[in-house]
Amino acid sequence: NYYAILMAGGVGSRFWPVSTTEFPKQFHDMLGTGETLIQKTFSRLSQLIPQENILILTNESYNAIILEQLPMVKQEQIVLEPAMRNTAPCILFSSLKIKKENPDAVMVVAPSDHWIEDELQFIANLQRSFDLCEREDTLMTLGILPTFPNTGYGYIEFDKLDSRPIKKVVQFREKPDYATARKFIQSRNYLWNAGIFIWSVRSILKAFEEFQPEMFAHFMNGYASYNSESEKAFIQENYPLAANISIDYAIMEKAKNTFVLPATFDWNDLGTWGSLYDKLPKDSQDNAVVNATVILENASNNIIRTAGKKLVVIDGLNDFIVVDKEDVLLIYPKSKEQEIKGIAAKLKK
Ligand code: GDD
Ligand code: MG
Repeated sequence: NYYAILMAGGVGSRFWPVSTTEFPKQFHDMLGTGETLIQKTFSRLSQLIPQENILILTNESYNAIILEQLPMVKQEQIVLEPAMRNTAPCILFSSLKIKKENPDAVMVVAPSDHWIEDELQFIANLQRSFDLCEREDTLMTLGILPTFPNTGYGYIEFDKLDSRPIKKVVQFREKPDYATARKFIQSRNYLWNAGIFIWSVRSILKAFEEFQPEMFAHFMNGYASYNSESEKAFIQENYPLAANISIDYAIMEKAKNTFVLPATFDWNDLGTWGSLYDKLPKDSQDNAVVNATVILENASNNIIRTAGKKLVVIDGLNDFIVVDKEDVLLIYPKSKEQEIKGIAAKLKK
């Protein structure tokens, strides 16, 4: 009864120039391991979930990349979105699709572009969450011990007095402002939302019906009669009608039956060059190097990445991002990594 939906529709614009709209970060080997992020995620999930029960949700323009990178995936397992509508609509549609096949399914919703080192612990956490969701009507999240007031994450307040390994959630707050995030961290009973959710198809559909009745109605419209042949037309018709909203705002902030399992694995959402730098091995001057061969003098705390093998010589550079691609060279201070998002947009104009 185990299923997974892999969300692979994001653009990863803070990883420009490697990540582009045409070829976003989940399809790149960001870590230099020989595998792309989506390939790593797929193989991690398939340790517990039958490969044919893993759906990939993405924009239609990435279909060919997925078939190439995951040759074991059949076309029916790929849900192709005609428009970007964030995560709530694609999760709702896929849950309905899974329900057609197996109304008793329990599923994990997983981003395709995160770093998880300890696969055994990840699988153990997943198993534990599946067990609970098979028994009870709950929406499960995996929580990460926060280290600083990051305003790009969701925060999960758990019940301090709950000594069970899986804890009752008091409130879920998506992307609070800085002052609020700081207060949350100081009070010590908040975790970061890893963006990995576990629930039964029944529970999540019930939650959509209650908290997103309009979106639910749009997709239920004609649901009974669509089949694998008419699926594409069904999506084309209903997807553009759906609100552009993430699952965090649409469901998680509103639901009452939410629980959190503090994760026992190392996690990093690989959102920026800086977060990738944190996870890469470094030389004695704290430089992280991917693909390149380097000669460095008076250079420290840099992240240096070339597309293929290339000799890079640097003298007198600290705290920089150096990313070399065939047609682009980025040399940018690490402190301004958030602004990289705007470069690609500006260039398009
Ligand atoms: N299929 C599809 N369609 N996938 C999408 C879409 C879409 O329209 N939009 C985003 N995704 C995918 C992204 O590729 C990513 O894997 C995942 O869904 C989450 O989207 P993000 O855009 O990266 O979300 P976020 O980082 O702002 O916030 C979420 O993740 C944080 C942890 O990384 C939230 O769940 C936060 O609460 C959480 O802390
Ligand atoms: Mg993200």
